[in-house]
Amino acid sequence: MQKRTFDIQPANGKLGILLPGLGAVSSTFIAGCVAVRRGLGEPFGSLTQMGTIRLGKRTEKKHPKIKDFIPLSSLEELEFLAWDPYPENCYQVARNNAILPHELLDQMKEELSAITPLPAVFDKTYVRNLDGPNVKKGATKFELASQLIEDIRRFKEERGLSRMVMIWTASTETYLERSLAHSSIENFEKAMVANDPSIAPSMLYAYAAIKSGIPFGNGAPNLCVDTPALQQLATLHRVPIAGKDLKTGQTLMKTIVAPGLKSRLLGIRGWFSSNILGNRDGQVLDDPDSFKTKEESKLSVLEHILEPEIYPSLYKDLYHKVRINYYPPKGDNKESWDHIDIFGWLGGNMQIKIDFLCKDSILAAPIVLDLALFLDFSARCGMKGIQEWLSFYFKSPMVAEGLYPEHDLFIQLKKLKNTLRFIKGEELITHLGLEYYD
Ligand SMILES: NC(=O)c1ccc[n+]([C@@H]2O[C@H](COP(=O)([O-])OP(=O)(O)OC[C@H]3O[C@@H](n4cnc5c(N)ncnc54)[C@H](O)[C@@H]3O)[C@@H](O)[C@H]2O)c1
Repeated sequence: MQKRTFDIQPANGKLGILLPGLGAVSSTFIAGCVAVRRGLGEPFGSLTQMGTIRLGKRTEKKHPKIKDFIPLSSLEELEFLAWDPYPENCYQVARNNAILPHELLDQMKEELSAITPLPAVFDKTYVRNLDGPNVKKGATKFELASQLIEDIRRFKEERGLSRMVMIWTASTETYLERSLAHSSIENFEKAMVANDPSIAPSMLYAYAAIKSGIPFGNGAPNLCVDTPALQQLATLHRVPIAGKDLKTGQTLMKTIVAPGLKSRLLGIRGWFSSNILGNRDGQVLDDPDSFKTKEESKLSVLEHILEPEIYPSLYKDLYHKVRINYYPPKGDNKESWDHIDIFGWLGGNMQIKIDFLCKDSILAAPIVLDLALFLDFSARCGMKGIQEWLSFYFKSPMVAEGLYPEHDLFIQLKKLKNTLRFIKGEELITHLGLEYYD
């Protein structure tokens, strides 16, 4: 493979992390970063903090930590800004969600209480089950986006930041399909001025970030930055973008189990997935239109991993069903069941049952951190547009027009690490044992 040199800018100075949505995921993320900074906990689940990367041959025994291999911002350099239609500060949100122990949160009370959300660009039309008072006012969507740009500019100035990155950690918006308004930058800007309903609040945040030269990651399944208009804008401003929908919980399990079954050519007759969860995310997903956005994101995973068009006898008739039910007593302690009907040699039937008692935000928080640090790294390497090498983190990875997304977690991890090797001019690792052929 041809080598390319990247001029990697150092990670000097402070990095601002901009978070539309101060809820379960973002408060757990922020509290976790502060806790690790103070030596109160460890960043389990984070590749940027704990992961290693093999370099060269196995005999060379070179396994540096990723954060020592490439220049990444340290946790000490992070500053946080959030927007939310509800005015509670980060300490209150984290306490109410009860994901991290109260005794731990109390030790950080002062610092977390100081993180209060700015008024959000929020419109109930797109998230029907919420209605908070901390909301911006503006005659047009363009005006609202301009207010976000001003918030960002002021935050950068007040905190003396070198760089920023934005990750959408707000609620899942109702289902929207690409339309004319999303087809070009010009149409998008016209639609903002005309208050066109196809422009959702998440798109305004993404627009504000990209216009300000800030990388953007979408942690939710809504369309958001996954449109030609915003992708063109990202290319124009040389901004890296990534999405959609953080891969945690049940889908993480699916993308671990399905590639394994496929690699052994075991067939699947049916996969029934059900979830009960009781946090605000669950409340939002109780609205059928928000659920549709999530359902689309969850359903496509198996189709792409199993490739029924290549293995029709194994996967063509697979019946796949996903259910999400809002059940308040569960809080953030989601429970997901997977009932999988599989078959093997001569059609012999077998079953697999998975009962995952998972804390979604515990799984999502390290992903938000990795995405923020890697997107900032991409920008410092001069990369722009969709960062497919970050598919590892998403349920519905964004890809360039005409390509299909890669969902297999293990291929995604290989791609991520090989991208880092490539950027640093190291040999890619193919796992080919050349010694057999000598
Ligand atoms: N928890 C997970 O593991 C996980 C996994 C994948 C994706 N997600 C997605 O991440 C997002 C956040 O999840 P969560 O569990 O923290 O949900 P949450 O409901 O606790 O937090 C979302 C917050 O976003 C706010 N919000 C809604 N619209 C907004 C807007 N326009 N601007 C600013 N804030 C807005 C809400 O008021 C709420 O406080 C959801 O979209 C969810 O689907 C979460």
